[in-house]
Amino acid sequence: MIKIAASILSADFTKIEEAVKMAEEAGADLIHIDIMDGHFVPSLTFGPQLVASLKKKTSLPLDVHLMVENPRSFIPLFHEAGADWISIHLEASAHLHKDITLIKEFNRKAGLALNPATPIHLLNEIIKELDYVLIMTVNPGWGGQEFIESCHAKISHLKNWIRGQKLDIPIEVDGGVKLENMEDLINDGVDIFVAGSAIFSEKKPIDAIIKMKQLAEKYSSS
Ligand code: DX5
Ligand code: ZN
Repeated sequence: MIKIAASILSADFTKIEEAVKMAEEAGADLIHIDIMDGHFVPSLTFGPQLVASLKKKTSLPLDVHLMVENPRSFIPLFHEAGADWISIHLEASAHLHKDITLIKEFNRKAGLALNPATPIHLLNEIIKELDYVLIMTVNPGWGGQEFIESCHAKISHLKNWIRGQKLDIPIEVDGGVKLENMEDLINDGVDIFVAGSAIFSEKKPIDAIIKMKQLAEKYSSS
């Protein structure tokens, strides 16, 4: 099943609870929460307290994307806060196997995120340990950027490689996702779409999610 993850980065920060409840009502599959530390990326966003608060407000899995240096020091905090999925950046971890293993020891889904210019062959020694791969299709740090077109080839190569190895590891894409590019991305092999501005910058965010879900369901059943 193709999934939609609503990224609250583009929501009104004074109304995050409403945004999450709206996403749940619309049929979103995940709530994507971008954690930025002011070092790995220039911005600062949320901490574990927000994750813990949202955990009480929704039954949707919380997909926590750690855009932080030294992710190992943050993993236990987000596990305790109730993150269900935790992704770290390949570019930020000096001890990838150790960090991914730590997420799995906490019984959380372990994801590895790759920046647009990071080649997929760097996944070679770790891919079998992953529960999902997060392909950044913009440079991380901001919502509302344009999708980087060269990522189509990267995603389809990754999909072929995963299939060729007879693995079943979903590909999540993050950045510049819109209703208009979703079909091409589904053809590339995307399993999970993160969408921020394409939802929360719309006049009716609920309709944006419903349309994305309809498209996802059309391809999930075909
Ligand atoms: C960007 C974040 C994204 C962000 C995507 O660094 O990781 O999750 O919310 O925003 P859009 O969908 O607006 O490109
Ligand atoms: Zn993200």
